[in-house]
Amino acid sequence: MSANKSMPIASFRQSSQRQAARMANEAPMPLRLLQLTDLHLFADSAGQLLGITTRDSFEAVLALAMSSPRSADALILTGDLVHDESPAGYRYLRETLRKTDIPHYCVGGNHDHRNLMAEYLGSSAMGPVALRRLDDWNLIFLDSSEPGRDGGRLGEAQIGQLQDLLADNKAPSMIFLHHHPAPIHSAWMDTMRVENGAELLALCDQNPQVKAILFGHVHQSVSLHRGSCQLLGAPSTCFQFMPGSKDFAIDDAAPGFRELMLYPDGRFTTSVVRLDHYAELPLYQAEGY
Ligand SMILES: [Fe+2]
Repeated sequence: MSANKSMPIASFRQSSQRQAARMANEAPMPLRLLQLTDLHLFADSAGQLLGITTRDSFEAVLALAMSSPRSADALILTGDLVHDESPAGYRYLRETLRKTDIPHYCVGGNHDHRNLMAEYLGSSAMGPVALRRLDDWNLIFLDSSEPGRDGGRLGEAQIGQLQDLLADNKAPSMIFLHHHPAPIHSAWMDTMRVENGAELLALCDQNPQVKAILFGHVHQSVSLHRGSCQLLGAPSTCFQFMPGSKDFAIDDAAPGFRELMLYPDGRFTTSVVRLDHYAELPLYQAEGY
């Protein structure tokens, strides 16, 4: 049995705006997905990382993402959800996401605790390989993290499942995971990418229905092209890393998120949206965290 046949494929609920457009026989509206990543939440509501109160910055970014008159069809969180491996941190995240009333999907990062994710996020916790169908698109979620390591790796079984899944599902697809699968030209950060990312990229080369690979971990906006597939990184909802830096360095860019508009014919557009202003400044002199 191929991997996807053993995995549930759930349909997303349509936003009311998209349902109305369909019922009125209007041109189909694109799907609107929002990627939020690297929240680094704490049990303590006042918990800070590098000078940023991470619950406050997450709530500010989420409020910005929700402020559009066009409602979102899904929120996708790509790891480093809770920094201190606390049940209270995951409970807070669950309740905050529930209040949005938008379907949400979470992959884990190197700072996440898998058992707590499963316990508190339930069916929203994705992985090791998961597929969700959203109208004309397939969203594929991979858990790229390994316990005790900052870098990532995809296991042999995951690669095999993904290969089967892509062979059986030719609809336009996007892949979401925490770690970046290719260098982003930041030496210290590139030591922590998916160490066998070349295997993932090779699968995408063989399966042009994969339009993009989206990741967190890098705390910065990244946009690379590889054939017909884009490699896209998103800013963190808290502090940002300096693009192109050889060593650990904090950037002064504001927290933000990535927006994706997915069209029925397989095209998509994307942009990074940041807060205009965020009151707290990160600890620019920090040499790590
Ligand atoms: Fe992170």
